[in-house]
Amino acid sequence: MRVMVLGGDGYLGWPTAMHFAAGGHEVMVVDNYLRRTIARSTGSEPLFEAPNLEARADIFGTIRDTPIEVAIGDCSEMMFLDPLFARFLPDAVVHYAEQPSAPYSMRGFHEAQLTLRNNLGVTFNLIWAVLRHKPECHIVKLGTMGEYGTPNIDIEEGWIAVGHNGREDKFLFPRQAGSLYHTTKVLDTDLLWFYVRTHDLRVTDLMQGPVYGLSTWECEGNLRLLPNFHYDDIFGTVVNRFLVQAVAGVPLTVYGKGEQTRGYLNLKDTLQCVRLAAEKPASPGELRIFNQFTEQFTVNELAARVKRVSAALRLPVEIRSIPNPRKEKEEHYYNAKHSGLLELGLQPHFMTDDVLTQMIETIIPFKADIDSNKILPRVRWS
Ligand SMILES: NC(=O)c1ccc[n+]([C@@H]2O[C@H](COP(=O)([O-])OP(=O)(O)OC[C@H]3O[C@@H](n4cnc5c(N)ncnc54)[C@H](O)[C@@H]3O)[C@@H](O)[C@H]2O)c1
Repeated sequence: MRVMVLGGDGYLGWPTAMHFAAGGHEVMVVDNYLRRTIARSTGSEPLFEAPNLEARADIFGTIRDTPIEVAIGDCSEMMFLDPLFARFLPDAVVHYAEQPSAPYSMRGFHEAQLTLRNNLGVTFNLIWAVLRHKPECHIVKLGTMGEYGTPNIDIEEGWIAVGHNGREDKFLFPRQAGSLYHTTKVLDTDLLWFYVRTHDLRVTDLMQGPVYGLSTWECEGNLRLLPNFHYDDIFGTVVNRFLVQAVAGVPLTVYGKGEQTRGYLNLKDTLQCVRLAAEKPASPGELRIFNQFTEQFTVNELAARVKRVSAALRLPVEIRSIPNPRKEKEEHYYNAKHSGLLELGLQPHFMTDDVLTQMIETIIPFKADIDSNKILPRVRWS
């Protein structure tokens, strides 16, 4: 297949590009370095600076003898995306190119506006590029489990049958996001569903939980091929943040009661899920939704695991509850279905002690570069 990865410089985008290329697909990565720019502007630099996209594609191409085409530009600009799409004519587009941080989106007017404009702008332009040039192209869109929020009922995979006054119909599962960023994902889903209904687009929307992990099959052993790795309060996801705190010898900061439950997955499983979705596409006129995670944990459970694994590595770790900067339920019911990707062939990599140990061992050489001031919450919801 010809696969275009929008957001190919990102934490998920770069490993995805390598994974598709290694799997024999023709890959183009597209990025405007928005993540690098806004991380710098908020003092949220990653633990180590990844080479730019062209340099990484060169390194990968040399090692594997497999080219990855690179295009640098802003996908929310149709003058950029439209001709690029028309030239490459992908069979599948993996759309990661969004501002993905909830705290960033809640920081103030400018950040909220950037998140809204950028995220919806890229999705809208992509839909129109597909409609104009290759309507059969399959869009694999990254959504988030955060679209559903934490309802007091089981979370289905995207759809729910509703009976009302003796009649029944199927609707998108109710969504009530907890940040402006997550709300842009809800709006993305609605936009995609509209064009699926009216123009028979083929779309897979992957409701993904927080991802953890550093290395994947294709970068094993080569530090210059690792993805961006953020550990700060704005761009770091919780597991990555806890592991860096453990290495730095600062307390793991649990927000509030710590009984917030979410579904998590290993970076390697993100790659598998996206590839399975692309290789077994949705049908024309189908919005296919999968809940993309492999295990559910509370934040307290995660902190306890990191503490246990760190202790075995002689890293003494303290767990500290701090006032929750977010407006969210700290104790709630949570039971989300996630069988669709397993049925498609996903072989999960669970969060074993070995996996956490390997991550800690990768982080340890960068210990001197950890800036603990970046970890405590700097953004409050209200
Ligand atoms: N990482 C997670 O745990 C997680 C969980 C659920 C969903 N997601 C979703 O997966 C996607 C990728 O997440 P990530 O963690 O890799 O984020 P990331 O910020 O590392 O990657 C996104 C990339 O898209 C690029 N980008 C953003 N806007 C762009 C534009 N207008 N034009 C071109 N490039 C643009 C950024 O520069 C960045 O490199 C996001 O949509 C995110 O919402 C991520």
